[in-house]
Amino acid sequence: MRIDEFEFTKIAGAVLSALLLIFGTRTIIDMNVGHAPEKPGYTLPAPTATSGKGSGASAEAAPAAAETPDEAAKKVMALLPKANAENGKTIFNKCHACHVAEKGKKPTVGPNLWDVVNRKRASYPGFAYSDAMKAKGGDWSFEELAKFIHNPKAYIPGTKMMFAGLPTANDEADVIAYLATLADTPVPLPK
Ligand code: HEC
Repeated sequence: MRIDEFEFTKIAGAVLSALLLIFGTRTIIDMNVGHAPEKPGYTLPAPTATSGKGSGASAEAAPAAAETPDEAAKKVMALLPKANAENGKTIFNKCHACHVAEKGKKPTVGPNLWDVVNRKRASYPGFAYSDAMKAKGGDWSFEELAKFIHNPKAYIPGTKMMFAGLPTANDEADVIAYLATLADTPVPLPK
């Protein structure tokens, strides 16, 4: 049977209009590409507080950062006698991005934290401390560590330590208990 020429023209026309529709639509879409979308395609998830799960070096928002260093240190001092240095070792992963803590190792972004408990502030050889840290004076007692780690910038404005703090006082106490083990003679925790 011969294809009726009129039928053929109708089919060809239909195919052509379909193609036109497809390419026409694509052109309109392409023309819109330069415009900023009204809303971003996705929103970043809010940071969540992790408790010692070793989530790496992410400096996460500390919900308790509104507390003054003194208030925060009081809590940590109360928790220290029962603090868990094992858990503190995991939490220390967050510090590890900037600090080594093995005896004799060269400092990295921050000073080496071997033997830091009761060490004179800003005294690790070969590390260029900020003027603010050098000017503060004193030793890294447990209490001083607690005040600083809770919110470095609040306690020592001008410090080079870019760290937002840990999510809980428990984490702070545990990481300080771990620091106390990093010495030839570990420093006993307060009773
Ligand atoms: C983003 C990098 C960074 C992270 C993360 C970080 N620090 Fe620091 N830290 C520094 C720097 C830089 C300094 C030097 C600060 C200065 O000179 O003002 C410092 C200084 C210190 C000091 C003073 C030491 C000394 O020799 O006087 C202590 C203690 C300390 N950090 C503990 C910690 C602990 C504990 C953590 C984890 C909870 C931590 N830091 C996380 C960068 C960091």
